[in-house]
Amino acid sequence: MQRLQGRVALITGAARGTGAETARLFAQEGAQVVLADVLDDLGADVAREIGSAARYVHLDVTRPEDWDAAIRHTLDAFGGLDVLVNNAAVLDVSSIAETRYEDLTRIIHVNQIGPFLGIQAALEAMKARGGGSIVNVASIDAIEGSNGVAAYTSSKWGLRGLTKAAAVELGRHGIRVNNVNPGFGSQEMVEPFFHRAAERLKTLKQRLPDRPQHPFVRRGALADAAQAILYLASDESSYVSGIDLTVDGAFTAGKIEPAAPFS
Ligand SMILES: NC(=O)c1ccc[n+]([C@@H]2O[C@H](COP(=O)([O-])OP(=O)(O)OC[C@H]3O[C@@H](n4cnc5c(N)ncnc54)[C@H](O)[C@@H]3O)[C@@H](O)[C@H]2O)c1
Repeated sequence: MQRLQGRVALITGAARGTGAETARLFAQEGAQVVLADVLDDLGADVAREIGSAARYVHLDVTRPEDWDAAIRHTLDAFGGLDVLVNNAAVLDVSSIAETRYEDLTRIIHVNQIGPFLGIQAALEAMKARGGGSIVNVASIDAIEGSNGVAAYTSSKWGLRGLTKAAAVELGRHGIRVNNVNPGFGSQEMVEPFFHRAAERLKTLKQRLPDRPQHPFVRRGALADAAQAILYLASDESSYVSGIDLTVDGAFTAGKIEPAAPFS
């Protein structure tokens, strides 16, 4: 038995990265999937590659009218909606002092207001099915704070708060709402900021040569987040709502103390 047999899912930010990986996995598990993004050519290619169980729709998550059209498209194509994955997001890497107002508001709009609009837009369609599952993709930046990503971190903590509030409010309709916090994602999201990071890392290593290391079980993969999203979308998690599922190989569990014993 496939884990999403007969289910219809809408995934935002599905043109590449975690969203595209999740769309492929959902289709393998029997779902019909609507991929939504602003990168239309890429998104349409992924939908074509998946085949007849997939459609692509242009959806800028900051626009309520795009949300209404995407939900209509989903209902017309596949007859209902059971799963919403709020995965689309944008990043900026700047100090608080250097963060530009337009970057701050863009990040809050896409990463925090977008999922809120998505939940509003999906509500009636999910109620009509007698319930559903909403998975918000946040980040390890939603459970701790780091320098250089204050705007992104604020948006992801806000998204996590939305998850909790929505889980409480929508439970009576059979709608579950959960949060996945990946520690790894698409390199395309972080690469534009790498060249500046390399210079800073050099300075940091000079100043803090014995910096305690974070543990890593292994290097992450897009499939790690996609598998967590699949679990929360499927009936295997039917009594799970309002949780954080952190997928980071123990990165946020603590840090290695070099002076203490290891086993
Ligand atoms: N990349 C990482 O290192 C990392 C780490 C932890 C969590 N995450 C989170 O994982 C999720 C997936 O990101 P990813 O790593 O695949 O990065 P990505 O940049 O490859 O994917 C994000 C997608 O969102 C789309 N998008 C951006 N603005 C949009 C808008 N207004 N409307 C609709 N779509 C829009 C982009 O076009 C892109 O396809 C995000 O929520 C991200 O914050 C990423």
